[in-house]
Amino acid sequence: MKAKACLFDLDGVLVDTARFHYLAWKDLAQRLGFHFTEEDNERLKGVSRMDSLEILLEIGGIRLSQEDKILYATQKNSLYLTYIETMTPEDILPGALEFMKAVRREGIKTALGSVSKNAALILEKTSLLPLFDAIVDGNLISRAKPDPEVFLKGAGLLHVPPQSCIVFEDAVAGVEAAHRAGMKCVGIGSPEILKEADLVVPGFAGLDPGMIAW
Ligand code: BG6
Ligand code: MG
Repeated sequence: MKAKACLFDLDGVLVDTARFHYLAWKDLAQRLGFHFTEEDNERLKGVSRMDSLEILLEIGGIRLSQEDKILYATQKNSLYLTYIETMTPEDILPGALEFMKAVRREGIKTALGSVSKNAALILEKTSLLPLFDAIVDGNLISRAKPDPEVFLKGAGLLHVPPQSCIVFEDAVAGVEAAHRAGMKCVGIGSPEILKEADLVVPGFAGLDPGMIAW
């Protein structure tokens, strides 16, 4: 059977914004007086902004009022946005654009499945927007990954049944969300981290769209 739709996560899959998220959270942790490692950061991938803050505070053993939480989340986002502002199409990860174009030539539909509320800005800065048949971002969903909502909504907009969809993800929470949606998942990253993915590749460079037939 051939896939009818590909659903792409954004941060860390199509663009290297996962790095920017990490740098912004690390800066916040530093200001709160603790060190935040890249290993800690794996727990934040695919997780919403406020849930990420909760995990960060748990790691640092810090308690904050709701008011302060909103203040710090806003500060983190402001720093993150300064990184995003500098983005151009050059920031698309190697092979991602070519892969998306090849998939579309095959007649396979494409959707964005990201929990980020900044997705529209990133798609505009990188000129990726025209490559999607549907967009689902953090403004359209009420539950972040590992909940399957973001991918089920994407499949719904494309009118493709979940079992004919393939998700591309760099986050453990995203792989779980794809499986809970009843979809196959290609992990982008390391097999040690993305243990549950159906296939793991280091990136799109050299990934043949023929590989997504199963
Ligand atoms: C996900 C990232 O794509 O978006 C998470 O993997 C991030 O790290 C989440 O927290 C929410 O992003 P934003 O841009 O709405 O703060
Ligand atoms: Mg991601």
